[in-house]
Amino acid sequence: MRNIIIAGNWKMHKTQSEALEFLQGFLHEIDETPDHREIVLCVPFTALPVLSKNLHGSRIKIGAQNIHWEDSGAYTGEISGTMLSEFGTRYTVVGHSERRQYFGETDETVNLRLKAAQQHNLMPILCVGETKEQRDAGETENIIKGQLEKDLVDVDQSRLVIAYEPIWAIGTGETCESGEANRVIGMIRSQLKNADVPIQYGGSVKPGNIDEIMAQPEIDGALVGGASLASSDFARIVNYQPF
Ligand code: 13P
Repeated sequence: MRNIIIAGNWKMHKTQSEALEFLQGFLHEIDETPDHREIVLCVPFTALPVLSKNLHGSRIKIGAQNIHWEDSGAYTGEISGTMLSEFGTRYTVVGHSERRQYFGETDETVNLRLKAAQQHNLMPILCVGETKEQRDAGETENIIKGQLEKDLVDVDQSRLVIAYEPIWAIGTGETCESGEANRVIGMIRSQLKNADVPIQYGGSVKPGNIDEIMAQPEIDGALVGGASLASSDFARIVNYQPF
């Protein structure tokens, strides 16, 4: 059986005190969450110490939002796997569309970052997905196949999570229809050497649509942006009710 992984991506949100406040609300709400659902919080680097201090003995896994491929060096503004591991970080997002769109990340650097994460025993969550223009032009499959082909060169597929995040669905409230997300995720799976890679859906996941999303057979979890910022919303998401 493939693992279910529900991850929050806080993006550039929450100070240390706000992170602590979130945890105080959230920790009470996951007592009943079924054991086989992995819960991950991918937080800003400055919130890692707060999670590290307050999540001992908890089932919540600590995640980051990026990783550089070198262990140290003259790379202003970057962070290494060694630095992340110091805080008990277990996951990291790699190749998020916001990194590709606003910070010039390419499939080549995404590939280097994926391999660095694995070298440091961090589970990478590789994000792929198409723009609205690419979808309208019927390019969705080709774009995603191209991303996978380049991003996954020499990447160990036994230690990998993929998130299908259609860019037009991120932060827009316009969720990809769950059957369509299921279809694209099935297509992604067909491109992999390891069919057991957990594949999440991301893009306007909310308490109101998570049950339907998780009812889809190909979808193994969610990568949640805006709705992971409020503890009650994110709790409802990890406590989704299977149909
Ligand atoms: P939203 O859930 O805010 O649409 O963001 C999705 C996302 O980009 C998660 O990585």
